[in-house]
Amino acid sequence: MTSLTEPGQPSEAVTDRLNRPLRDLRISVTDRCNFRCPYCMPAEIFGEKYQFLAKSKVLTFEEIARLTRIIIRLGAVKLRLTGGEPLVRLEIERLVAQLSALEGAEDLALTTNGVLLPKMAQKLKEAGLRRVTVSLDSLDPQVFHQMSGERAEVTEVLAGIEAAAAVGLTPIKINCVVQRGVNDHTLVDLARWCKDSGYILRFIEFMDVGNRNHWQMEKVVPAREIAAAIDAALPLEPIPRGYASETALRYRYRDGGGEIGIVASVTMPFCRDCSRMRLSTDGHIYTCLFAQQGVDLKTPMRDGASDDELEALIRNTWAMRTDRYSEIRTSVTVPVEKIEMYYIGG
Ligand code: GTP
Ligand code: 5AD
Ligand code: SF4
Ligand code: SF4
Repeated sequence: MTSLTEPGQPSEAVTDRLNRPLRDLRISVTDRCNFRCPYCMPAEIFGEKYQFLAKSKVLTFEEIARLTRIIIRLGAVKLRLTGGEPLVRLEIERLVAQLSALEGAEDLALTTNGVLLPKMAQKLKEAGLRRVTVSLDSLDPQVFHQMSGERAEVTEVLAGIEAAAAVGLTPIKINCVVQRGVNDHTLVDLARWCKDSGYILRFIEFMDVGNRNHWQMEKVVPAREIAAAIDAALPLEPIPRGYASETALRYRYRDGGGEIGIVASVTMPFCRDCSRMRLSTDGHIYTCLFAQQGVDLKTPMRDGASDDELEALIRNTWAMRTDRYSEIRTSVTVPVEKIEMYYIGG
């Protein structure tokens, strides 16, 4: 009998209730971080006494690789490691090696705050990581320092980006979360630097993820305002999305000097084509960044579930999916308990 679990035997790909396939898997490998960005892990909440997940609750690399292999059978082709800060997880390169050996994954990327890249870039490249996306909210030393929760200097991140470029973890993307009155006066400088250095800058509208980041609509700078500010200094023209489920609106510089993206989750939601599943540090799958609940895979896995049983659980979860939070956020009037981004994987 041919088992569904044999490698190289892709199962039938799954689509959700809105006919969206499962194409991307974002894996949060740790809920910890060496930064305290106020929009993600504000220091007043995530202080010395904050209880992060106990080791026994965190998936092992072998468990992550096993679940990933099953999710690839259901259609996932793009893998991204996130956190928290994925590079604070000890020996993360061992997981990268296991994932890069999986058949069927076309892309393997990692989102990081960059400060550990000088130490890690070479090891990650050798383990099979394709590329990195580095968060960098401003080049202004004070603004940056404040946005990292006073945990890092901008020069450390720049050294990390250089290290990644030097070993070929490319194309490098730079993520900048834009907050009105915080870093919006420094966007053009960042754009000019990325353009000159050959990095793809992506501005991200400040999102109401989780419940602890003091989100207010007044702090969101809408994508069209960001685009207009950059265009005024460095003329832009829109270009089509690279693939259907791409998060960013894309623009290229009219002088041919590269491109930027804007992730307009608040003002121009992109749920219609959202094909992203998230696997949390403690082994739950989530079908939306704004989900209130996940489905526990760790317990059945540790209780001895077979690959086929886990696959059925994941398939059913995706098949039932109706999430489109960003499209309906303005009509959600009751406050909801959402999952924090560092736990579910940005
Ligand atoms: P590429 O694979 O390089 O195209 O990147 P990506 O679009 O997966 O980008 P990345 O992981 O850097 O995501 C950029 C940012 O967009 C994330 O950090 C989140 O802030 C936001 N984002 C990513 N996925 C989603 C999503 O499904 N919904 C919402 N609302 N925001 C998302
Ligand atoms: N809004 C928008 N982006 C956010 N990120 C973290 N929290 C938020 C938020 N509230 C971004 C980080 C990083 C990526 C993982 O998600 O800056 O680039
Ligand atoms: Fe850490 Fe990234 Fe969250 Fe900042 S945004 S606290 S770097 S996980
Ligand atoms: Fe996907 Fe949810 Fe983000 Fe919409 S809000 S794009 S459904 S993760």
